[in-house]
Amino acid sequence: MEKTTSIHGMWSSRLMFVLAAAGSAVGLGNIWRFPYLTSDNGGGAFVLVYLACIAVVGLPILIAEVLIGRRGRMSPINTLRKMAKEYGTSRGWVGIGWLGIVAGVLILSFYSVVGGWTLHYSWLYVKQLFGGAPLGDPSVAFRSLLSDPLELTFWHAVFMLLTTVVVALGVEKGLERAVRFLMPALFVLLLLLVGYGFTTGHMGEAATFLFKPDFSRISGGVFLSAMGQAFFTLSLGMATMMTYGAYLPREGISIPRVVIAVALTDTSVALLAGLAIFPIVIAFGLEPAGGGPGLIFNSLPLAFEAMPLGTMYGLLFFGLLAIAAWTSSISLLEPGTAFLSEKFGLKHRKGSALLLAGVSWAVGLLSVLSLNLWSDVKVPAGVNVLGGKNIMDLIEFLANDLMLPLGGMLIALFAGWALSRTVLREELSEMPEWLFVVLRWTLRIVAPLLVLAVLAHAVI
Ligand code: TRP
Repeated sequence: MEKTTSIHGMWSSRLMFVLAAAGSAVGLGNIWRFPYLTSDNGGGAFVLVYLACIAVVGLPILIAEVLIGRRGRMSPINTLRKMAKEYGTSRGWVGIGWLGIVAGVLILSFYSVVGGWTLHYSWLYVKQLFGGAPLGDPSVAFRSLLSDPLELTFWHAVFMLLTTVVVALGVEKGLERAVRFLMPALFVLLLLLVGYGFTTGHMGEAATFLFKPDFSRISGGVFLSAMGQAFFTLSLGMATMMTYGAYLPREGISIPRVVIAVALTDTSVALLAGLAIFPIVIAFGLEPAGGGPGLIFNSLPLAFEAMPLGTMYGLLFFGLLAIAAWTSSISLLEPGTAFLSEKFGLKHRKGSALLLAGVSWAVGLLSVLSLNLWSDVKVPAGVNVLGGKNIMDLIEFLANDLMLPLGGMLIALFAGWALSRTVLREELSEMPEWLFVVLRWTLRIVAPLLVLAVLAHAVI
């Protein structure tokens, strides 16, 4: 008989799971990464492929992850080990869990560096609020941040420490408390910024850029970025959602329903972020295309400077963004921490979190240095998909665009082929039969083939 609780603790309600999973999903991926990828990949064409990836590949795999986790109730590695024993699935599937821990450490390494940027900006606005000098030209301010390894390392360390503290405290005392108020606040602030976007008179152009696909822009590279982003934004492919699923109660909770709430929240935050940022970009005479990772840092401060109470809005925006990043970064650390504390004993949760975070912080120093002292260390331009990438880009590419889709594909195959129909059906008992059949074949065939096609196309 399956266990009804996890040794690590449980979400106290269905709503808490949705908030925590949405807290994991909504983060830098939505507000920093989605707008700049859209900007760099031709606008509407990218958005369209991204939405298709979410619906066809992302949602089914999200369901699969949560379901596997709830069935196993342990950290991903031990859940998959247990299933190998109980259901006779191959022990090779345990590799999904290991892949996940490595991907988590890699993603957290640069995620924390960018999280540090948001803390730095929050701090700038705090100082400004108390009479400090204004930011000045945002692109100069951004470049001067990136060129300062000590400043970057400091904020990277602060962000990593914040992440470690929450994970060390555990599910109820740490994770739940962090997400309860912050998610709704971020949503409201984004709506306000979209409202500001309307006052600039450029909402129409922004919407055209976002939603009118220029099909000539669709290429293998666009598909790979959109697919990678779909996995990244839903926190898929590295067993984060499997871990969160392990803490999800069973009674009266339909996995597809909670999962759809999570995916809808995540997608609408990304689209709202686009609608908030592009009118500002256009209104201040910046190019919507080719904004790169600095897009929000170069554009939004212009608007904050121009609007009444702008300093306060600047602080609110970057503060909430930092918090959104925080509720995501904890979910990058949790799967590995849960595993280590199963291995070394639950009382070592704190040490486990600290150990993994320390490794990830050290790896993050590579990203820090690639922005300044080592900025010339690059793959020669034009060789292949890797051309022109610096170390931070490479880590991001390896983890987001390769490891996550690969992990997601394996998870789909595991749920579709290794688990029996009976087990799958028991976890999805509320689903109408036809939908269940569609889902199962999507997991067995459609999703893995699509991921494989995109990966193969990009690598060849
Ligand atoms: N989804 C988060 C974001 O969009 C990032 C994230 C958190 C993540 N946990 C993850 C990405 C697990 C991949 C896998 O910012």
